Amino acid sequence: MNAIYELLKNGAKNYSVTVVDEINSTNSYLKDNAENLKDGAVIIAKKQTAGRGRLGRSFISEKGGLYMSLLIKPSLCAEKSLFITTTTAVAVARAIEAVSDKKTGIKWVNDLFIDGKKVCGILVESTTNPKTGLLDYAVIGIGVNVYEPESGFDAEIKDIAGAVFGKNNDNGNITRLAAEILNQLSDLLAEPHSKEVLNEYRNRSVVIGKKVDIIKGSNTVSATVIDIDDDAAIILELSNGEVIKKTSGEISIRL
Ligand code: BTN
Repeated sequence: MNAIYELLKNGAKNYSVTVVDEINSTNSYLKDNAENLKDGAVIIAKKQTAGRGRLGRSFISEKGGLYMSLLIKPSLCAEKSLFITTTTAVAVARAIEAVSDKKTGIKWVNDLFIDGKKVCGILVESTTNPKTGLLDYAVIGIGVNVYEPESGFDAEIKDIAGAVFGKNNDNGNITRLAAEILNQLSDLLAEPHSKEVLNEYRNRSVVIGKKVDIIKGSNTVSATVIDIDDDAAIILELSNGEVIKKTSGEISIRL
């Protein structure tokens, strides 16, 4: 039994948690084994050698971070799957605030920010049953920079990345954060499309009202974020005054 179980509450006690030192990607592991694993399988790694981010990007996953994935097999229609990402963002923000004194904001759609720096990315990958339109499963991947790596962040991300704590590595904080994330997830995923949680997502937004760059492939366009609507899509006003709505698969945004 690993230390995390003692910290799990309520529904999270039913999660089946495996902790490993190193893996290619916790998301890949659960996806590859999704058929044989039950709802609630969790894998946590101290380091990933092939961590993956949204839109096919890689996710640098050095020691000092928390890399975890949760497999869920919910009765949820595929159109609502974006709410798994928004709900996870709220769950992780709450968890970070429960173990640290850092106020945590959300950058649509899947990034968490502290003091203007990205401290967490979320990657939800799912498959849908074409007959029912319901999800077969979803793998919720969460990567948190709990500590800054000993040698500092990689040159590629050093201007945008931050950590929840400083450089002083204490494994206890990583375990506490992982447990708190699972406790929050087990509560909030009971109703991923809850209006209350989406409101908290909006209230934590670091982009509403801001000028951003919209990136689609090699194109970048400036816009102002007007709101996040009830479908969790982003509403943008372009410089020519046109108002558009985008879902997460289509674009990413840069502050
Ligand atoms: C992003 O910032 O684009 C999302 C990053 C998601 C990273 C996490 S780390 C745990 C899980 N395993 C992965 O390979 N990716 C996710």
